[in-house]
Amino acid sequence: MEKTPQALKGKKIILGITGGIAAYKMHAVVRHLKKLGAEIQIIFSPCAEEFVTKLSFSTMSERPVYSEFYSSEDGSWNNHVELGLWADLLLIAPCTANTLAKMAHGMCDNLLLAVYLSAKCPVMIAPAMDLDMYAHPGTQRNLSNLESFGNQIIPVGDGALASGLSGKGRLAEEEVIMEYVNTSLSSKNEFKGKNVLITAGPTHEPLDPVRFIGNRSSGKMGYALADKAAQMGAMVTLISGPTNLVPQHPNIKLINVETAQEMYDVALKNFSSQDLVIAAAAVADYRPKNIASQKIKKNIENGDSMQIELIKNPDILQEMGKRKTDQILVGFALETTQGLKYAKEKLSKKNADVIVLNTLEDEGAGFGTDTNKIYIITEKDQLALPLMPKVHVAQEILTFCHHNFLK
Ligand code: PMT
Repeated sequence: MEKTPQALKGKKIILGITGGIAAYKMHAVVRHLKKLGAEIQIIFSPCAEEFVTKLSFSTMSERPVYSEFYSSEDGSWNNHVELGLWADLLLIAPCTANTLAKMAHGMCDNLLLAVYLSAKCPVMIAPAMDLDMYAHPGTQRNLSNLESFGNQIIPVGDGALASGLSGKGRLAEEEVIMEYVNTSLSSKNEFKGKNVLITAGPTHEPLDPVRFIGNRSSGKMGYALADKAAQMGAMVTLISGPTNLVPQHPNIKLINVETAQEMYDVALKNFSSQDLVIAAAAVADYRPKNIASQKIKKNIENGDSMQIELIKNPDILQEMGKRKTDQILVGFALETTQGLKYAKEKLSKKNADVIVLNTLEDEGAGFGTDTNKIYIITEKDQLALPLMPKVHVAQEILTFCHHNFLK
């Protein structure tokens, strides 16, 4: 007899269904998740019942479907805080433009939104709407806000829409949703009991009270690593330069810094207790020698040019390489040319165990994007990975480190 895989056995999922035509497609997703052993609690937004019935979803999930703060049958309270703490994953699919906007602005006028605001687990959102609504700058801004909260957006599909039009806005296909859910939930606590330190984002090196020298790092790579490491069981210290991001997982201790020197001080202070350190920050190599106490004024006498003297910043990764005892040290290399050559040089110069190379020669890799294409380089290995979302890149890096160094 064929054995049914129980990859999600014991995993608890809250599935939020909102009022969109694609809601019926979630029957197949629920069936699939149940087959893999997951427990599913479904919550409808107030409009969901216009499109699908509670009866069909409660039958499939083997639990009552909630939509109100109070049960109309026995008057009991559907405790949103408890629900938010119960789940290993909150998946909102399909998520309409309306619910998306409310989530992005912290509104709380229904049970699903209250659960969203209370949830401590990873949140995944699969938007579905008409193409013009999806393309509207308001919706796009809401999506980036939600991403900056650490929520994961499952990309919309491109094709026929309920309106008869065709374009971007369809609910992601069942297989895509399943892939995202599986990736998020299949981790096996590989990093339980481990301390992981991650540097993320840019540094800002002040010139005067209003100006700084910075770079284009958004922090997305480092925050994805922090969220993933925490999901895999680690206690994470995330040292971050200025970004708009908010880490999602309760096991992440965030320490905000601004300059390379501050990042150096905090990283080295925390270094000795770590098992794994990943330096994903884009740290300024130089800083202005003098910081003006007042705004630097345009000075006619200086003519059309101005000199700024720069001095070297300490190299955080290199210093950790010198001090390391049994910590595993992973550095990044961001290159624009001859990536492999420079990455290998960094591996030995900084005494790192792994260098993750991302090169701007690869489209979709490096700064700002939601994707990255990396090469994992060690003394013995050189792995080239395809272009993928940064959350998946994070999973690959952490799994590599676990298999090769921490098992
Ligand atoms: O933040 P995102 O928009 O998601 O973009 C991600 C990223 C491109 C910033 C990230 O993937 C990345 O490549 N980070 C390292 C960028 C960098 O500064 O590379 P580098 O080749 O200059 O530095 C090499 C390594 O030394 C890095 O691990 C860096 O963190 C570290 N370093 C560098 C200088 C310094 N003074 N101290 C350091 O620790």
